[in-house]
Amino acid sequence: MLPLSWTQDQLFFFNQLTNTTGDIWLAGLPGTGKTTAFIEARKRLEGAGDRVALLAPTGIAAQQIDGCTLARFLNIKTSTNSIAIGRLLEEDDNLIYKIRQQLQGIDVIMIDEISMVGLDLFMATDRLFKVAVGSEENPHHLPFGGKRLLVSGDFFQLPPVKDYHCFYHPAFPEPIELRQVMRQTNITDMAILTDLRKGYITPQVSFWINQSVNRLLPALVTPLHLYPHNQAVDIANQNGLKALAGRVVTFNASFEGFAKFPKSDVIIPEILELKVGAPVMLCVNGDNYQNGSQGKILQIDQYNKAVHVELASGETIIVGETEWNIRGGTGKIIGKVTGLPLKLAWAITVHKSQGQTLDYVRSDLTRSWAPGLAYVALTRTRSLNNIKLDGVPTNLAPDPKVVEFYKRKGL
Ligand SMILES: Nc1ncnc2c1ncn2[C@@H]1O[C@H](COP(=O)(O)OP(=O)(O)O)[C@@H](O)[C@H]1O
Ligand SMILES: [Mg+2]
Repeated sequence: MLPLSWTQDQLFFFNQLTNTTGDIWLAGLPGTGKTTAFIEARKRLEGAGDRVALLAPTGIAAQQIDGCTLARFLNIKTSTNSIAIGRLLEEDDNLIYKIRQQLQGIDVIMIDEISMVGLDLFMATDRLFKVAVGSEENPHHLPFGGKRLLVSGDFFQLPPVKDYHCFYHPAFPEPIELRQVMRQTNITDMAILTDLRKGYITPQVSFWINQSVNRLLPALVTPLHLYPHNQAVDIANQNGLKALAGRVVTFNASFEGFAKFPKSDVIIPEILELKVGAPVMLCVNGDNYQNGSQGKILQIDQYNKAVHVELASGETIIVGETEWNIRGGTGKIIGKVTGLPLKLAWAITVHKSQGQTLDYVRSDLTRSWAPGLAYVALTRTRSLNNIKLDGVPTNLAPDPKVVEFYKRKGL
């Protein structure tokens, strides 16, 4: 779902994209339309004859842009660090051959949600591209093997897991900033989120926090509980389903070609268990909903594999089986998923929520430990009235290294 009109800043980015050849970091607050502009950028670059690899660090972020995970593009496991890559290069002649093939004819590398790409993976990618474009003995002399690098993301959001930020890399590009927030429209909400970004607990922020602790959300849709850990998410979804009366109906998704990609790259579960009354989330975009829209199951038609869902907007839609593609880095289809584009929506992790626009959110941020965690959770909804907090959040301060970096870049 592309917007009808672009913001001035998005247009400036498109202009720089086609009128210059330099690397770009597309920066901006959450919800300024970075991902939306990135999807459009690929179209414009391809229209101008460039070949593009569109990548993201996680499966859910990759699916949002119809792209490929960075690890899948590099034929490595997500946990591979640059020391292990050195070893892999020695042991696996095939690795470089495969990457060379992937890079053949590619002019531009685009990576969304760059804040979750660690320095180590960034360095490894740089090194692998240099060797793949050149050779082991004579690696290409330019960063990333001379490919144009476009990255997008916000470092005030979640950091990489067990790694430094990749902005320390000398080849990290200079920013173009999107300044107009599109996700939230209320001026007070935007002011509160701007203060929260910096960790400023102003009287306005305190007032909002207290309101949110006592808030009753509308009963129509169960708010999506954002948890820091997978385990709590699984328990919440299992218990939620168990507590509902009625029969469990199971739908099996079929994954084609998954030998080539990990199942964790697919955002719907292989076995989806549903009950009437269960809260669900849509995992694809449609005419009157988007990836992340929440609703409640009204009726399940097992025979026709269709589910009637009442959306948070009050509208009822019928969701049928959908087929979508898993792409390799060059856009080639390497697998297919066929299934109901739904998942249970009692809970998801904050990690998986990054990048998404959600309807109603509930979260316990009283023990949030990573900088950016609370900020991601609190920037997901279109209105701050749609958030219920279980207690007063702690650790709202951003990472001082991020603050320092942004200051240095004049952002
Ligand atoms: N130019 C625009 N006009 C209207 N809505 C937009 C525009 N750009 C983005 N959006 C909407 O704003 C929301 C946030 O956009 P997104 O691209 O996810 O932001 P970011 O990646 O910066 O967090 C989405 O719902 C998106 O559809
Ligand atoms: Mg985004």
